[in-house]
Amino acid sequence: MAPRNLVARLISLFLFVNASIAQSCWKNTTCSGPTDTAFPGTWESNIFAPSSRTVSPASILSSEGAFISSFQGSAKLSGNGSQLVFDFGIEVGGLVTLDYYATGQGSIGLAFTESKNWVGEWSDSSNGEFKGPDGALYAVFNTSGKYSYTMPDIRLRGGFRYLTLFLVSNGTATVDINDINLTIGFQPTWSNLRAYQGYFHSNDDELNKIWYSGAYTLQTNAVPVNTGRHVPFLITGWQNDGVLGPGDTIIVDGAKRDRAVWPGDMGIAVPSTFVSIGDLSPVKNALQVMYDYQNPTTGAFPEAGPPLLQLGSDTYHMWTMIGTFNYFLYSNDTAFLQENWAKYLLAMDYIYGKVTYPSGLLNVTGLRDWARWQTGYNGSEPQMILYRTLITGSDLAVWAEDNTGLNATWNTRAANLKTAINQYCYDDAYGAFKDNATATTLHPQDANSMAVVFDVVDTDRAESISTKLLDNWTPIGAVTPELPGNISPFISGYEIQAHFSIGQTARALDLIRRCWGWYLNNPLGSQSTVIEGYLQNGTFGYRSTRGYDYDASYVSHSHGWSSGPTAALTTYVLGLSVTGRAGSTWKLAPQFGNLTNVEGGFTTGLGKYQASWETKEDGYALSYNVPDGTIGELVLPLLNAGELPRIMIDGQPVPQSMNPEIVGDAVVLSSAQGGSHEIVVQ
Ligand SMILES: *[C@@H]1O[C@H](CO)[C@@H](O)[C@H](O)[C@H]1NC(C)=O
Ligand SMILES: *[C@@H]1O[C@H](CO)[C@@H](O)[C@H](O)[C@H]1NC(C)=O
Ligand SMILES: *[C@@H]1O[C@H](CO)[C@@H](O)[C@H](O)[C@H]1NC(C)=O
Ligand SMILES: *[C@@H]1O[C@H](CO)[C@@H](O)[C@H](O)[C@H]1NC(C)=O
Ligand SMILES: *[C@@H]1O[C@H](CO)[C@@H](O)[C@H](O)[C@H]1NC(C)=O
Ligand SMILES: *[C@@H]1O[C@H](CO)[C@@H](O)[C@H](O)[C@H]1NC(C)=O
Ligand SMILES: *[C@@H]1O[C@H](CO)[C@@H](O)[C@H](O)[C@H]1NC(C)=O
Ligand SMILES: *[C@@H]1O[C@H](CO)[C@@H](O)[C@H](O)[C@H]1NC(C)=O
Ligand SMILES: *[C@@H]1O[C@H](CO)[C@@H](O)[C@H](O)[C@H]1NC(C)=O
Ligand SMILES: *[C@@H]1O[C@H](CO)[C@@H](O)[C@H](O)[C@H]1NC(C)=O
Ligand SMILES: *[C@@H]1O[C@H](CO)[C@@H](O)[C@H](O)[C@H]1NC(C)=O
Ligand SMILES: *[C@@H]1O[C@H](CO)[C@@H](O)[C@H](O)[C@H]1NC(C)=O
Repeated sequence: MAPRNLVARLISLFLFVNASIAQSCWKNTTCSGPTDTAFPGTWESNIFAPSSRTVSPASILSSEGAFISSFQGSAKLSGNGSQLVFDFGIEVGGLVTLDYYATGQGSIGLAFTESKNWVGEWSDSSNGEFKGPDGALYAVFNTSGKYSYTMPDIRLRGGFRYLTLFLVSNGTATVDINDINLTIGFQPTWSNLRAYQGYFHSNDDELNKIWYSGAYTLQTNAVPVNTGRHVPFLITGWQNDGVLGPGDTIIVDGAKRDRAVWPGDMGIAVPSTFVSIGDLSPVKNALQVMYDYQNPTTGAFPEAGPPLLQLGSDTYHMWTMIGTFNYFLYSNDTAFLQENWAKYLLAMDYIYGKVTYPSGLLNVTGLRDWARWQTGYNGSEPQMILYRTLITGSDLAVWAEDNTGLNATWNTRAANLKTAINQYCYDDAYGAFKDNATATTLHPQDANSMAVVFDVVDTDRAESISTKLLDNWTPIGAVTPELPGNISPFISGYEIQAHFSIGQTARALDLIRRCWGWYLNNPLGSQSTVIEGYLQNGTFGYRSTRGYDYDASYVSHSHGWSSGPTAALTTYVLGLSVTGRAGSTWKLAPQFGNLTNVEGGFTTGLGKYQASWETKEDGYALSYNVPDGTIGELVLPLLNAGELPRIMIDGQPVPQSMNPEIVGDAVVLSSAQGGSHEIVVQ
């Protein structure tokens, strides 16, 4: 017995040592994230997240940004004004520690930037009323000797790729840098930043990398709750000590800034979080803080979470409601729903109370919205969002076990609103929605995309809108008419869903490659995350055309609202999505485009959901593996229009109980069983 015991003790000691090395969550945060990936495989090489929370730069560049060498741990600065740029190779964020030996007297400046455009002695802008200057931090040395400098917690830099170190000295100081270590501050509850609970892999490497750049962006946007942007904003420098909400981790808009909860952004960020990293606790905490700060008299939610707490946005109010639906759909968190249900009802009364007659349209008086130029009154985009709010609300009413008939009431209101929207906001002569119910020649990207995604229009109008949206396209993305001169990967995230949702696969993939492909391949960007927005001429000064005096460096290069392709590739190309609480029901509806092999999956409380498909000369093969006891709908593309193909499931013909029915370009099979199954279509 003794030797075996010894071996066991040695093994457990070994495991313990390993575990204690891996156990590195942020500061005192309890590690509650997953420790292992749910779907191990070669695709993990596309994950941008580092394997350790402590990272060092990858390479050293000159002050002009030219490659000097890879970073081996040391570097030297000699004389006042000398500087080197350290490139981490990907977006990172957190607290830097410098170990160095100095001679003389002076200080080392540390300046941070996401884009290569702004390397130098000034950090890019993250604060200071939109135009900095953020400036630099300084590590001071008074006499020759060995030093270790760590940035103070409140100066945490949430997002950067480049660190410029420069020497300031009146004399002839020199600095030998021995170590540069960054402790990553994001995704604070995860000890293993690569423990993804979802994956995506196809035979198109660019699409794979785009999927993973959205996922990594969302990791950088899940932040410790006490690291929000300080309010009131500093005039110079930066300070990230704002308390954002409950819990340990919370989803914000961007890594560098605003570092605040914005429910509108979550309309894109949350579905993409679910299919990729798969951690919903930052989402729950972000929604909870909106409920905590609801105006108890009117029912209005703030536009942004504390400490920013901007008020007065009807659209963002509704996004908190839609966010509640999304979170519940993925989590089946009934305790959360019950706890907040009375507040949800108050929120519905508040917004529906703004519907005016005889038109039956929402009269938007909370004017704030995403960066679109014109807002308010009978604007088309808020109508689409109200429609989605009512439809999702009617499902929530059932889930909340409401017995006052709200499911029927809200469905009826949605139907009436749909009629009004189509009557007053659509421009028949043009073939798409106007910006509002008045005579305007502006046909926005947001309302039109959402009309199709949220199912506000019939097939003819959806086809017409999809075609009209192409008029906005340039080689580097769709210019959004409602924010002239700008390209919005946020709103384009709705546009790609619009094309996908009506089977215009080639258009959706084309726009993904133009817009997200352009940014990911741009050597001036982070090459690992998705950007907040950019200008039509390919420069990064998003919104600088809007009349605001934004500094171009203020733009966030790691902004979750632009992660739309991550959810869209899983939902529409792989074709796998959940339709009932926690995945109790699901759908598999692949779209091939010009791809030949795709696989992927995600995880809910019920277990893992995985699917793959492969096109063949005479058809295609599809397989799936989902929890037993769940029920799905298969939407299998036809090989020839109008013609039922030969379909075999696990080697057997389709049973009549699955009610095969041709709908459009696909055959729909209902009541597909959980478990592992293989389908061949010829
Ligand atoms: C971590 O916990 C220790 C002991 O409770 C406490 O002294 C310290 O301030 C905490 N640090 C942070 C960053 O919360
Ligand atoms: C040190 O260099 C900075 C520029 O990096 C310059 O502004 C400053 O005047 C220099 N100081 C001295 C003492 O030369
Ligand atoms: C440089 O000299 C100026 C003027 O004497 C002094 O104010 C400053 O603190 C000195 N800076 C350093 C880094 O020694
Ligand atoms: C350098 O000197 C200043 C002024 O005497 C002092 O406040 C500071 O703590 C010293 N810094 C270091 C790193 O010794
Ligand atoms: C700190 O950085 C150096 C390289 O600069 C590296 O060799 C060392 O392993 C890092 N320390 C930790 C704790 O990761
Ligand atoms: C699909 O087509 C696009 C555009 O022509 C091309 O860039 C891409 O490489 C193609 N992908 C595959 C997997 O063939
Ligand atoms: C919409 O609200 C504004 C501001 O309260 C009001 O002036 C306007 O008359 C309202 N429009 C309609 C159609 O009720
Ligand atoms: C309608 O939309 C256009 C284009 O955005 C805008 O110029 C106009 O002010 C809007 N009208 C109203 C009443 O909101
Ligand atoms: C909710 O309402 C819709 C539309 O009226 C109806 O189809 C559905 O069966 C209702 N759901 C429940 C659970 O009552
Ligand atoms: C839309 O709002 C504008 C400005 O308030 C108003 O003139 C117009 O009558 C409204 N349209 C409808 C259909 O209510
Ligand atoms: C891009 O467009 C912006 C806004 O019109 C302008 O300020 C900037 O100079 C342009 N940059 C280039 C390189 O064309
Ligand atoms: C959802 O949660 C409820 C209440 O906790 C539970 O009864 C039900 O079985 C759950 N459903 C699924 C699909 O997880």
